[in-house]
Amino acid sequence: MSGLFITLEGVDGAGKSSHLDWLAAAIRARGRVVRMTREPGGTPLGELLREIVLHQPMHPETEALVMFAARREHLSQIIRPALAAGEVVISDRFTDASFAYQCGGRGLPEARLAALEQWVHGDLQPDLTLLFDVPTEIAAARLANAREPDRFEREQGEFHGRVRAAYLRRAAAYPMRIRVIDGGRTLDEVRSQLAVILGTLF
Ligand code: TMP
Repeated sequence: MSGLFITLEGVDGAGKSSHLDWLAAAIRARGRVVRMTREPGGTPLGELLREIVLHQPMHPETEALVMFAARREHLSQIIRPALAAGEVVISDRFTDASFAYQCGGRGLPEARLAALEQWVHGDLQPDLTLLFDVPTEIAAARLANAREPDRFEREQGEFHGRVRAAYLRRAAAYPMRIRVIDGGRTLDEVRSQLAVILGTLF
């Protein structure tokens, strides 16, 4: 069986994390080995870099480089070996998040990120990306009840709107890979939509 690489994306508060366990269980029920992981993070070094990038002020370009440094490690330690072993890798965020947050949110030129993407994983893209989309007011209301916010969640004003718009632009540019999920729907409605998508994959 060949490996399958699935990524989950969306603005903070879009609800993707509520569906991770369900998604993994639904794929395991189809007889596949599932490896769940996340970015930034997924490896011991990646988790250290995550702590730094989520809490330490830094230049936007440094931020982009740290994301890709963690990703480089993640690819060689976790993602590529799991795919080679025929597993289904589900990553909570990947490179679309860099285009959305560092380009859309922070304003870095896309060409910079495209060069890093080419360097770090020019030969590998997710097979499927589930983009959880909600209006930023709903996402913000959900975050208001959450734990202590990190550097990205604390961003004010238009930042999250720009991130959302950048995600939706990517979805329009890669319609075969990126499926937009209405994260404002109920848990059951979202699961039905996910089940239909999974039905086309397995
Ligand atoms: P999480 O809260 O979904 O675990 O993601 C951590 C934060 O990191 C989230 O606010 C988005 C941000 N992020 C980027 O800015 N660029 C990236 O490339 C990745 C993977 C995450």
